[in-house]
Amino acid sequence: MLLGKGNKKMIVNALMTCMLIAAGCGRSTETDKLQTSGPKWWQQTVAYEIYVKSFMDSDGDGTGDLNGITSKLDHLKELGVGAVWLTPCYVSPQADNGYDIADYYNIDPAYGTMDDMERLIEEARKRDIRIVMDLVFNHTSIENEWFKESRSGKDNDKSDWYIWKDPKPDGSAPTNWRSIFGGSAWEYDETRGQYYLHTFLPEQPDLNWENPEVRKALQDIAKFWIDKGVGGFRMDAITYIKKPDYADGRPDAADGLTGIHAMTANTDGILDYLHEFKSEVQEGTDIFTVGEANGVAPSDLKYWTGKDGVFDMVFEFGLVNIDLPDESNWCERREWKLGEFRSFFSENLEVSDETGGWFPAFLENHDQPRSIDHFMPGEGDRIAKGKALATLLLTMKGTPFIMQGEELGYINVDWPSIDDYNDISTRNHYSFALEEGYTEEEAMDGVHHFARDSARTPMQWDASANAGFTKGEPWLPVYPDYQVFNRAEEKKDPDSVLNYYISLSGLRREHSELREGDYEDIMPDSDSIFAYTRTQGDKKATILINFTDSEARYDADLIKDSECLITSCGDTSPGILAPFEAVVYGQK
Ligand code: NOJ
Repeated sequence: MLLGKGNKKMIVNALMTCMLIAAGCGRSTETDKLQTSGPKWWQQTVAYEIYVKSFMDSDGDGTGDLNGITSKLDHLKELGVGAVWLTPCYVSPQADNGYDIADYYNIDPAYGTMDDMERLIEEARKRDIRIVMDLVFNHTSIENEWFKESRSGKDNDKSDWYIWKDPKPDGSAPTNWRSIFGGSAWEYDETRGQYYLHTFLPEQPDLNWENPEVRKALQDIAKFWIDKGVGGFRMDAITYIKKPDYADGRPDAADGLTGIHAMTANTDGILDYLHEFKSEVQEGTDIFTVGEANGVAPSDLKYWTGKDGVFDMVFEFGLVNIDLPDESNWCERREWKLGEFRSFFSENLEVSDETGGWFPAFLENHDQPRSIDHFMPGEGDRIAKGKALATLLLTMKGTPFIMQGEELGYINVDWPSIDDYNDISTRNHYSFALEEGYTEEEAMDGVHHFARDSARTPMQWDASANAGFTKGEPWLPVYPDYQVFNRAEEKKDPDSVLNYYISLSGLRREHSELREGDYEDIMPDSDSIFAYTRTQGDKKATILINFTDSEARYDADLIKDSECLITSCGDTSPGILAPFEAVVYGQK
């Protein structure tokens, strides 16, 4: 039989899938051996988030790509990473940098091809690294064929795949909900004479999960990627998929609107959809799922994670919102105490211990400020701060998630004008602040603290032009400090943040108590030191982190009969921590 190019490719893909299943990934058949007891692979490793657009550009177009990632896998291996979460790299018009997906089954040409993706999965696998895809299932792009068909009229196969509603009698939007990125959450469509709902941008219409065909189509996408050999999924904006009654809320700002988050996040009935997803997609596989769970209070976590929950882990937002009472208003920040910071960890870990769930430790992601500025603002040495936070991240119970650049000690960008910022949500937050009566200076102050661009500047690989990220013009400016803070320079410097990360990650591998041990807060009243133990049988590690710019003291009995395993300052004295010092003690 003569094989056409398409057929050959199908056969190659099928063979590849069989090989991957044989290698332990993919959906299982009855004969596969799935691990039934002991810690899972993703509980033993370190995870790393790659903002694909900014990691490494292999072809000089100024945008990071999959081949760029493949070329840098050894950096991840050295950090002890075993799972790499890629931000969406599917076909997308990029209204929200890929979180608006036009085709879930193909790679955006700016990032490469499906062959490049298969090669990345394979090369990663050779290094014991699994690729984790971002599933953006609350919404698609307006360029998605499903939406194009849905908006073409009221009578088509996909007419109710999205959320369409008639206008109010006066022609206005069906409800007064404000989208998360600002402005009404409804967009009028001339052809249908109706509004569609968008929790985020008008270019990101919400899918109608009430429709079983929609749920099935989404499950099929996930299965397709499992068959490609991925190791897990991060579930984007997943708390918004179930909508409640479509009723107006009480206005919460001068625009007369009410934030959609308060109206739709974590609505009754949502878990049924997610249980269905888990049983249809995940059961019988060794993948993990981590849900982006903004709006799930700690008291509700037990339904979301754990043996009877819907995901293996959930990113709860208590920590990243610690200084932000209202996410839509970046101009109103609040002071917080170390006790609140600690409570986030205690509460999350308590729930996961009780329910058999697992905690994803994270201090940054591509939507958040850099942790050095976020959690240790003000005076002090940024390198010391970066190491202190690294200690927390890599000695916490759970799977640590490092955001690209965090391991090099990145800080926030502080570009002078709003025009310098690329992120649409940042620009919208700025306009919202001005409309609400804040001054330009106040609005820019909010931007400097919370702009998402801070986490998205190109990765700094070396001191050459554009930090070695691209040979072209980078899509977002490289941070000006790149000649000092880059991977190559930091690798040479024994005192760098990078080398500290590498050492800590090695320590975590060597000491099972740092991965699996019980967590206990041992200085619950301190305003300056975050101290805890990790205990497993007769093994115990004690971790002490000074969150202040001054020397801080603790009772040296806490580390009796212990030896220092690592300190962020080179040298340490029992009972005393230098400004922002972190230290890990283990038993002699
Ligand atoms: C959460 C993602 O992390 C963010 O980057 C994106 O803009 C929204 N969801 C919409 O998909």
